Amino acid sequence: MSIVSMRSFSNLGDDRGSLVVLNQLQEIPFTVKRVYYIYGTKDEVSRGFHAHKELHQLAICVSGSCRMVLDDGHSREEILMQSPEVGVDLPPFLWHEMHDFSSDCVLLVLASDLYNEDDYIRDYEEFLDRQKNDEI
Ligand code: TYD
Repeated sequence: MSIVSMRSFSNLGDDRGSLVVLNQLQEIPFTVKRVYYIYGTKDEVSRGFHAHKELHQLAICVSGSCRMVLDDGHSREEILMQSPEVGVDLPPFLWHEMHDFSSDCVLLVLASDLYNEDDYIRDYEEFLDRQKNDEI
């Protein structure tokens, strides 16, 4: 089974252009408490390199493209984010990295809670240890 959970969103656009709507607890699988977006990422810069203990997020590349690496401690998968009509779920305990941002990339992230540094696992070995302990 894939560790990647992608969500497809309907485009309600018409001859004027596109429109995508994300409703809380419908297209977004949680109650949104925070929204942030990453843009203007410099060449060769990668971001992320962490997992969360409790936070659930939904990431959408609303412009441009980037490559996302997801890792659940057992397998690692890559996805090319390049459509504003597709979201990727970032549930707790899913290590994620973002690479190869195009200069026009805008990565929109919806989050289930406010920013809390204590919720981050930024060390990959610690992430693997916690995953193993969780399974015992
Ligand atoms: P960082 O975690 O390094 O971003 P990324 O995971 O994309 O590499 O975040 C950069 C800085 O911004 C860091 O000092 C924490 C801060 N920050 C907040 O204050 N609130 C937030 O919601 C986020 C996502 C980051």
